[in-house]
Amino acid sequence: MQQNSSKLVNRMDYRPPAWLVEETRLHFKLRPEATRVRSEILFRRNPAVSTLEDFKLDGKNLNLIQATINGNDFDPALLKQTNKGLTISSQALPDSEFYWTAETTINPKQNTSLDGLYMSDGMYCTQCEPEGFRRICFYPDRPDILAKFNVRIESHESVLLSNGNLVKSSYGYAEWIDPWPKPSYLFALVAGNLVSVQDSFTTMSGRKVALFIWVRKGDENRCDFAMDALKRSMKWDEENYGREYDLDTFNIVAVDDFNMGAMENKGLNIFNSQLVLASPETAVDSDYASIERVIAHEYFHNWTGNRITCRDWFQLSLKEGLTVFRDHQFARDQQSPATVRIKDAKTMRSLQYPEDAGPRAHPVRPDSFREISNFYTMTIYEKGAQIISMLHQMVGAKSYRQALDLYFERHDGQACTIEDWITVFEDALEIDLTQFKRWYSQAGTPQISWQTSYENNTLFLTLEQKTNPTPEQYKKEPLLIPIAIGLIDEGGREVVPTKILQLTQNRQTFTFENLSSLPYLSILRDYSAPVILNTERSDSDRIFALRYDQDSFNRWDAGQQLMQKSIRQQLINNAEPDHKFIDVLAEIVADPNIDPALRALMLQLPPESDVQRYLAAFDQILDPFNFFYARENLQNSIARVMSADNLEFMFHDLADQSPYSPDSKAAGQRSLRIALLRLLSRLDGGHEARQLYNSTDNMTEKIGALGALLAVNAGQKQITDFYNQWCKNRLVLNKWFTIQIIEANPSSAVDLTQKLTEHPDFDWINPNRFRAVLGAFGFGNLAGFHTPDGTGYQLVADWIIKLDAKNSQLAARCCTVFQSWKLYDHERQKLMKNQLERIKNINNLSSESAEMVDTIMQDS
Ligand code: ARG
Ligand code: ZN
Repeated sequence: MQQNSSKLVNRMDYRPPAWLVEETRLHFKLRPEATRVRSEILFRRNPAVSTLEDFKLDGKNLNLIQATINGNDFDPALLKQTNKGLTISSQALPDSEFYWTAETTINPKQNTSLDGLYMSDGMYCTQCEPEGFRRICFYPDRPDILAKFNVRIESHESVLLSNGNLVKSSYGYAEWIDPWPKPSYLFALVAGNLVSVQDSFTTMSGRKVALFIWVRKGDENRCDFAMDALKRSMKWDEENYGREYDLDTFNIVAVDDFNMGAMENKGLNIFNSQLVLASPETAVDSDYASIERVIAHEYFHNWTGNRITCRDWFQLSLKEGLTVFRDHQFARDQQSPATVRIKDAKTMRSLQYPEDAGPRAHPVRPDSFREISNFYTMTIYEKGAQIISMLHQMVGAKSYRQALDLYFERHDGQACTIEDWITVFEDALEIDLTQFKRWYSQAGTPQISWQTSYENNTLFLTLEQKTNPTPEQYKKEPLLIPIAIGLIDEGGREVVPTKILQLTQNRQTFTFENLSSLPYLSILRDYSAPVILNTERSDSDRIFALRYDQDSFNRWDAGQQLMQKSIRQQLINNAEPDHKFIDVLAEIVADPNIDPALRALMLQLPPESDVQRYLAAFDQILDPFNFFYARENLQNSIARVMSADNLEFMFHDLADQSPYSPDSKAAGQRSLRIALLRLLSRLDGGHEARQLYNSTDNMTEKIGALGALLAVNAGQKQITDFYNQWCKNRLVLNKWFTIQIIEANPSSAVDLTQKLTEHPDFDWINPNRFRAVLGAFGFGNLAGFHTPDGTGYQLVADWIIKLDAKNSQLAARCCTVFQSWKLYDHERQKLMKNQLERIKNINNLSSESAEMVDTIMQDS
């Protein structure tokens, strides 16, 4: 019973708007349950559009009090109101321009969707991307209509913020003017009892910008890192892209209730508080790394997103893919480049590849959607960034910069398409990207296989590419794929340094001459393309790579391949893990010449989805329970080979006596130390972990120690202790919920999660808390979620249903836990399908969740 289903939107149906907005004046009188919004909008005919159509304004859950055109009331018969907005007959409209005014009321307090204007713990805030502005006032809520905004806020809250520059304020009101024309999705308003941390930044042309981070009282001592990251981002964008900030003020606000990570509203970025607040005792190293990256991401949007925005939402990757690429580049400059690259590849392989191989596969530039809010995907963001990474690599850093300069010069102030972006490269560099462009239109992950032969000192390398059919895209064309190759001789010396081959055909042979012996082929170095390599290699080849490959990514990947194979051997014939490779791994982990962060990554086992994909190549299905025990077994073997004495020695040896610092060197060392502690706990019953738990003063080690204990079924006392210490801190308490669930033994995970949903602190309306419990379970304890009797599926479905009535965007997002249902055995498939059916048949299911479930279940 889909009562809220919405229509399919097609990319090809794009039409430019008949009316443009010259200026938007908004006047807010804030009240929790009845906020008055008066809008005055100057519309002007779009000279490029000649057809005369009815005039449409989007609007959702708005209570219209009155509307005028050029100050006059008009015949109500000419106005039609639906639950999607207003239509005004063209007869009521003047020819070339007019003022539209409307007065509406809205109820921010009751707005649990966290979309539009809502309240978070007493403060007012907004989220308008992609279509939240229509919940604030009647407006042409589309990204290709850019206007100057002038905003007056009246409220007794002490801090009143909007986009742009503050022009006037006194007790009870504030006026903001944003001189830069922008689409409605970049509008923001915040009002609350906030305090700020202040700093400043002098831009490359010498303008001083005031920087503020606004938080609740008591949180102001946890903003230093975010502020520093902001200043580093501003500097980095000047140095690397020549981009300067363009307003007098830059505001960041931390909000506790937020659906996503953060939002790049012009001059007023709004953040999930989790991505701003950090102190050594409350945040872990990975929180710091995320904060740095997301602060940079949102700041970078000021140019790639705000100054140049998207023509329509099919072009979302124009801003998101590019901005993610920019934050990747920034992270590589701030941290160790190889480990950042490995982590990006891990994200692609474990999260984007499954999306691209399942029912939700879609091109980076999709062709249709029902709910755009469902398209903030790994494909649009991460694969979009990887496409730009390939482009960057192929043209080189200098040409890339040249093209980007042209992009900013040509398109500043415009709403653009991905086509425009590609054209800039073609024009600036005089290249033809016809084939490369297919990356944007073709869904699915290309699979690469390869063969070599060696004759007369020449190596012949034949590469083949193939992309499996995806929903609605059966036939696939060959892509232009940059494959980075290096050749290594038997002594481990690089005989041909990294070279990029351009694979353009389905099958293509490359030759390497003057080789005195058959070299080892290091292929797809530094993850040069988002593809799957599916040629099997011998164990001895992989062990060779693990030992010698100069490319850190491939070295790490060789270890992953060996682990996958070992897990498969266990799954098919209970074979004990092979000590040969574990010996080499142990040697590497002990090698002080290798970056500790890289060594820690090498100790991480491959995620379920990687193993699932690997097994599928042998027509095998992964059983999450057996997989859990195979991983346990492999970790126990690694621990035994490394030995308790050794692990203990290294664990102590790596201890850092200096005060906690989140920098990547110290963080890398801690990550290795915790990885070693987790292995050691398997041998010493958690002795060292208990000691670390008691003695450490930073959250990274505290949570690390707690996780190590829980993973060996210890740590109950520490769980109680942790709760007592941190139950008043929302962000830290999220960690308390999550760690118990992800470390739970699969046989008790469902019960534990169920129990935690009954905990008085399980405030499920808060998205972070919801994710900390149900997200942790569905995405972080796979064997628990896939409990054979289906109780895990049922638990998650119950909560999706409950959440959907309050916050449909988040509920829809949670439906993706079921997206890989076809990869499991028949019994589990049936149980998952039952839950999907159950969700689908809920009365008043949101259109967001309906689209998700329909897509996931298609042709089942
Ligand atoms: N533009 C934001 C970012 O990537 C994300 C906003 C997503 N919002 C949403 N409702 N899906 O930084
Ligand atoms: Zn973004």
